[in-house]
Amino acid sequence: MADSKDRLLDHDADGIREYDNAAPGWLMWMLYGAMIFSVLYVAWYALSFGDDDYGIELSGEQVVEKAKVQQFVADHPIPTPTAEALLAGAVDPVVLERAAARFAKTCSPCHGANAQGLIGPNLTDDRWLHGGKVTDIFGTIVKGVPAKGMPPWGRALKPDEIASLASFIRSLQGSNPAGAKPPEGDPAVPEPLPARSM
Ligand code: HEC
Repeated sequence: MADSKDRLLDHDADGIREYDNAAPGWLMWMLYGAMIFSVLYVAWYALSFGDDDYGIELSGEQVVEKAKVQQFVADHPIPTPTAEALLAGAVDPVVLERAAARFAKTCSPCHGANAQGLIGPNLTDDRWLHGGKVTDIFGTIVKGVPAKGMPPWGRALKPDEIASLASFIRSLQGSNPAGAKPPEGDPAVPEPLPARSM
């Protein structure tokens, strides 16, 4: 057939027939355009990831409000408890019970029900990516490691709850849970626990 334009197809849907023509160029270009745009758009977002404004330009008022929040955060640092206090918590059943409940709810999805490691590292071994002293652990929980997927908890949990979690993690040292993730980071000798006071 010399000219295939406007050739009717055989099928018939209640009297509605269809030509065997290519889709119009403008429609195809809209489709290709949308595909190219979506790739560039996702790339733009991916590249601005980690920039906490996600590449969005803040208005003057938003810049002022953001600076106020940053100033407030800077003016109210979360004080790190002493190592003695955190280690005392690691042998205090009341502290540990509370922390275990919080850990199960908030931390276990990434660290495993027994802190054996899942998405996040094993917290029961003697190797640490961010320091194994109880005060280091407290600091890691407060600040998180946002670039590596560990959220900062300093503003989401109360300081005494974070302290109880640091104590709890110290209490799990050497617990050797089933299915433990291989150790990551540098070795650290766990700080000695105080004798349990009754
Ligand atoms: C969304 C997943 C996620 C959640 C929820 C999470 N973590 Fe993490 N955590 C991680 C990842 C990933 C790392 C490893 C960071 C790195 O590679 O530097 C990590 C690291 C840590 C570390 C440092 C370990 C080391 O080797 O130095 C501690 C301590 C920790 N998390 C405690 C907690 C506690 C306590 C909670 C609950 C309040 C919690 N995490 C909730 C993902 C998570």
